[in-house]
Amino acid sequence: MPVLRKAYSQALDPLVANFITSIKEDSELVAADLAGSLAHCRMLEARALITHEQAANIAGGLKQLSELVANGSLELSAEFEDVHMNVEKQLEKLIGEDALRLHTARSRNDQVALDFRLYVTACIDTICGLIRALQNALLNKAAQYPETVMPGYTHLQRAQPVLFSHALLAFFQMLDRDFERFQHARLTTSVNPLGAGAQAGSALDIDPSLVTSWLKMASTFKNSIDAVTDRDFAADFLMAASLCSTHLSQLSETLIVWNTSEFGFIKFADSCTTSSSLMPQKKNPDPVEIVRGKAGSTTGELVNLLMTLKGLPLGYNRDLQETKPPVIRAFKSLSECLQVMAVVTEAIQVQQARMREVASDPELMATDLVEYLVVKGVPFRLAHEAIAQAVRQARESGTALSELTLAELRAHSSLFEDDVYDLFDPVRSAAAKTSPGGTANADKQVQIALESSDRL
Ligand code: ARG
Repeated sequence: MPVLRKAYSQALDPLVANFITSIKEDSELVAADLAGSLAHCRMLEARALITHEQAANIAGGLKQLSELVANGSLELSAEFEDVHMNVEKQLEKLIGEDALRLHTARSRNDQVALDFRLYVTACIDTICGLIRALQNALLNKAAQYPETVMPGYTHLQRAQPVLFSHALLAFFQMLDRDFERFQHARLTTSVNPLGAGAQAGSALDIDPSLVTSWLKMASTFKNSIDAVTDRDFAADFLMAASLCSTHLSQLSETLIVWNTSEFGFIKFADSCTTSSSLMPQKKNPDPVEIVRGKAGSTTGELVNLLMTLKGLPLGYNRDLQETKPPVIRAFKSLSECLQVMAVVTEAIQVQQARMREVASDPELMATDLVEYLVVKGVPFRLAHEAIAQAVRQARESGTALSELTLAELRAHSSLFEDDVYDLFDPVRSAAAKTSPGGTANADKQVQIALESSDRL
């Protein structure tokens, strides 16, 4: 008779056994399960719940199992339901009866919560490293083009000139917030639930805080029922992952638009584009399109998790097993997307002349003309109206705003002088936006960020 069924008269139906097993997703948790078990074993020894010899025997067995994991030869069997029972069975095979003491004062309910938390913490650390790498790719690209101007957009309509580096830094800032959001998720994740038992705690003299410090976790659970029920950390992780994926999707979409022949601001490298099976001339941005597409799946994983949690009564319920796959999938997808975006960003070819040509559209300097009048004392709203009328006149007469004569401009405001024509220069326009966070400061910000050691 397989494990944990001595009170039963029948074996588990094979179809049911196959249905309830979590070994597929649990293959991601083996390292965490072994680390958690080792810490638990040491705690049991420290509290004299097992002897030094028994602890040494268990620790030696766990070490051997870690070696098997490292060379990929630890197989999980569906017969033993999940990673926890598999490890216990394998340990028993290796070291004999002492293995049967390891589960003292522990339930799979607090054990799986611990394993999952250790796994998510490691995921967060990986993701945060990849976020920094993508930020560096953006900084490096921005640093290559310190003075390049391009049109900035609102409503996808040309608005005002900005520095190219300023646009890249906007994505850098989104990623900075993502990093912080993951760090917050790390705090809610790095809470040790081991010692909650099935849900009530234990009558044995355990000390969960020892496990917390040995596993370098941030804190220890405060309520044993909450400890086995809580998957908020998974929601925090998936929320951070969804928003980060959304930012990557926005970056993808922006690059895709810039790469069109219509915009012509950038070119994706051949190494990051694919061809058509029918049209020989095609060069398609499939990798970034897939990044854009995957953002939807990642947000789907967040909803998936929340739907699993919403109807659960207090305490551990087996539904919680279903919270692992969305997190594992989201982690894998987001880490791939971050890496692909870094490779694509590094390889972008910037079409400076085209950016500047479009940014030189005189209408993009209309706001500069408004501020020219404001400096001369005209109330902003009146200055706005005067320039709007000049824009209308230029459009109706089929001339560029910069081609209106001084006399024509003066018909809208007597304060215009010859120097107004100097304003029709996108480089000057961008360089004038020196207000805090304005586009003129972008290059300096790139340099500061590049010099800041925690970015590297
Ligand atoms: N495999 C389960 C999970 O992933 C953990 C085991 C808890 N099982 C139980 N019957 N209490 O959540």
